[in-house]
Amino acid sequence: MKKITKNLFAQCFTTVALCIFLLTGCNCGKCRCGDKQCNQEKEECAMQKAAIDNIMNRVSVRQFTGGKITDEQLEQMLRCAMAAPTAMNKQPWEFLVINDEEMMTLLGEDFPYSRCGNGAAVAIIPCGNLQRAIEGMPDFWINDLSAATENLLLAAHAMGLGAVWTGVHPNAERVRHLQELLGLPEHIVPLCIVPVGVPAEQPEVKDKWDTSRIHYNTF
Ligand SMILES: Cc1cc2nc3c(=O)[nH]c(=O)nc-3n(C[C@H](O)[C@H](O)[C@H](O)COP(=O)(O)O)c2cc1C
Repeated sequence: MKKITKNLFAQCFTTVALCIFLLTGCNCGKCRCGDKQCNQEKEECAMQKAAIDNIMNRVSVRQFTGGKITDEQLEQMLRCAMAAPTAMNKQPWEFLVINDEEMMTLLGEDFPYSRCGNGAAVAIIPCGNLQRAIEGMPDFWINDLSAATENLLLAAHAMGLGAVWTGVHPNAERVRHLQELLGLPEHIVPLCIVPVGVPAEQPEVKDKWDTSRIHYNTF
């Protein structure tokens, strides 16, 4: 009986240890970037560094050369946008792609703050679909679409393209105007306009790191 209890204890211990190992990874100092070939020390891992550099060096670009972007680049940005986390995995989004020159001119004229008239190749308009929103908590779509928009900006930057988030929602007048211009039904609410193109400027990266804005446990 004593032996059975001992064995059971050993089995439980091994299972728990294995679970912890699988969930947290080993603590051997090797990189966990996901690349099976990568056996570098954590600090040296090129993939990890590239991902972090991409986040740290992204800037808003508002001037474009007028150059085109490829269909592959456009799809890559949209794929990254749709990879974002969403509350209850609702994915309450629709993405309008404006790639018609006349429409871009019109957007640039009607929404000068959107920078669509500054030589951007396309504009992507992430919209919330209120019919797909969480019942009782519909406003979560704003968080979901914001996460998608940031992914989109990061993807553009990673591919050497320029982009900027230009705000629409929650300005009711801008939302209504854009809904009218693009023929959006009431339940499709544009969050922002993101012009994307070949950058004609290289703005300085802003250093926003401020330890005084970090609070541990209580404010
Ligand atoms: C919600 C939101 C609305 C924004 N609206 C505009 C806008 O209307 N026009 C614009 O040029 N930039 C707009 N921006 C971009 C910000 O001005 C920019 O992110 C900020 O100055 C920080 O610069 P960075 O993106 O280069 O780090 C907006 C950004 C956010 C997140």
